[in-house]
Amino acid sequence: MDCKYNFQTKLKQGGKEIKKKVLSALLSVAMVATLLVGCGSSAETETAAPAEEAGEAAAPAEDAAPAEDAGEAAAPAGDSGAGKKIALCMPTQSSERWINDCANMKSQLEALGYEVLDQFAEDDVQQQVSQVENMIAQNVDCLVIAAVDSGALTTVEAAAKEAGIPIIAYDRLLMDTDAVSYYATFDNEGVGTVIGQTIEEKANLKEVQANGEHLTIEFFMGSPDDNNALMLYNGLMGVLQPYLDDGTLVCNSGRTSFEDTCILRWSQETAQQWCENYLASFYANEDLDIAASAFDGFSYGIKAALENAGYTADNWPIISGQDAELMACKNIMAGTQTFSIYKDTRLLAEKCVTMVEAVVNGTEPEINDETTYDNGVLVVPSYLCTPVSVDADNMQELIVDGGYYTQDQLDN
Ligand code: BGC
Repeated sequence: MDCKYNFQTKLKQGGKEIKKKVLSALLSVAMVATLLVGCGSSAETETAAPAEEAGEAAAPAEDAAPAEDAGEAAAPAGDSGAGKKIALCMPTQSSERWINDCANMKSQLEALGYEVLDQFAEDDVQQQVSQVENMIAQNVDCLVIAAVDSGALTTVEAAAKEAGIPIIAYDRLLMDTDAVSYYATFDNEGVGTVIGQTIEEKANLKEVQANGEHLTIEFFMGSPDDNNALMLYNGLMGVLQPYLDDGTLVCNSGRTSFEDTCILRWSQETAQQWCENYLASFYANEDLDIAASAFDGFSYGIKAALENAGYTADNWPIISGQDAELMACKNIMAGTQTFSIYKDTRLLAEKCVTMVEAVVNGTEPEINDETTYDNGVLVVPSYLCTPVSVDADNMQELIVDGGYYTQDQLDN
């Protein structure tokens, strides 16, 4: 594929150019002050940005739905769910993946005869609390929860337990509760490791290191109230920290800790604002080479910030992502995002359905991890799916041939 935004080419062309490893001493105090708005201080006022806000709309649900409903194919039809109600409590519709997760679970559960009630909390903690309360009042047979805030549901979780309603944690661990039976997720530290390894490979970090050169990097990490976010950060830093330590990677903003780089409720708008501030304050004298983004939504914001700052195909950085959203896949093919992490939500839904069957009908759930996910009260028996890096080279094989999106969806 002929890709205008070819970082490898840029690196070779710029190979002789040794960038100065000095932070710009010319930063104005005002600029620094704007950057001090970290996740802690901005937590109260931020709201999740609708995908449109950064100028790039998330694809509408029907466009973004995986190409084939593999859910129905994967889950055998039957009537084990007849007369039983399952509640799916999802975090938000502002990000495409949760719409797909919900649709996949719904179709798989309905194929087994279950009645499915679904709710999206639009990243509002109180709204999710009310939705769970409402599901308990409707006397559902099982609650599947992908939390907005992993630790904010303890009271309603205790109420569900009291009412004899089992709970399954979906994608995000439910913290500080003994009311959760199982956890279906992707290997969250593994997601970070794969992002780190893919950055290492795409940026030729070993070669850059051997040549005594350096590349610049900024970090955009996930929400501090989502247990997945810190795990991803740890996986990422397991790969990249040595390069930061020896100066192969230079973060001009100095913001490398999780505390300094986490973005509340995974807000695309905040990611864009931060990126704009970083570019204005720290990248006047050299380009940003790598944006380590933990979420496709962040990557859209970063892309908008780069375009506003005048970046073009000639100096476009490596940008990671997570979820292989349709928009991200299109951007990858257009060269404005380098890669994403493909998490096949059909597969995750399938694993979760085995857990629903287990708690409702007493069958054996699929579990492959009984040690990692300690929620502060118990180690939750889990199934971890494997995350995979997707770029322009394996898009066809993974995404199109795998039936996640059609070629037509990618092209239009
Ligand atoms: C999920 C990611 C997703 C993020 C933002 C995390 O909990 O694991 O797949 O990108 O939330 O929605």
